[in-house]
Amino acid sequence: MIVLIGFMGAGKTTVGWLLARHLGLPFVDSDAVIEDAEGLAVREIFETQGEAGFRRIEAATITGLLDGPDAVLAVGGGALTSPQVRTALAAHQVVLLDVALDEALERVASDPGRPMLHTPDLSGLYTRRQDAYRDAADVAVQVSGRSPREVVAEVLAALGEVGVGE
Ligand code: S3P
Repeated sequence: MIVLIGFMGAGKTTVGWLLARHLGLPFVDSDAVIEDAEGLAVREIFETQGEAGFRRIEAATITGLLDGPDAVLAVGGGALTSPQVRTALAAHQVVLLDVALDEALERVASDPGRPMLHTPDLSGLYTRRQDAYRDAADVAVQVSGRSPREVVAEVLAALGEVGVGE
C-alpha cells in the first residue's frame, strides 16, 4: 500500500488520485470512506462526537484499509495522532507531502468542512505534527510551489528509489 500523509492542504487527494491512475491502482481517501460508512460529513462527526470520537473512527478505518487490497491511500492530516495508525503504517510505503503552512492555508482557506483549521493555535498544531510525519515517512516530497503533476513525478522517482510495491 502506498500511503500519502501530510498536513491539510498538502494535496493528498489530488496527488493521490493522479498517482493511483498512473500506477493502475485504486485510489482511496480515508475521510471519504469514513463519511460513506457513517453517513455523516467529517464536520458533523466532529460536532457530535468531538475530535476524540473522530480519531477512534479514523484509526479503525485506516487500520482496516491497510489490511485490505493494494491501493494508493490518502489519510487525513491528523491521522498520525492515533498510535495504532502510526504502528500500522510501519509496514507500508509512506509518502509525506511536505507543505509549508502558509501555502497549505492558502490552498484550504477557511474550509468549514475541515474543523481542525479552526484550532486556535494552528501554527502550533502544524509544528507539533511535523515529527510524527517525518518519523512515519519513507520518502518526503516538497509540494510548495509545485503543481500536482510535478509532485506525482517526484513521488514516482522517490518510490522508484525505495522500490514500488515492496
Ligand atoms: C484533519 C484533516 C482532514 C480530516 C479532518 C481532520 C486534521 O483531512 O481528516 O478534518 O486533523 O488535520 P485533510 O488532511 O484531508 O484535510
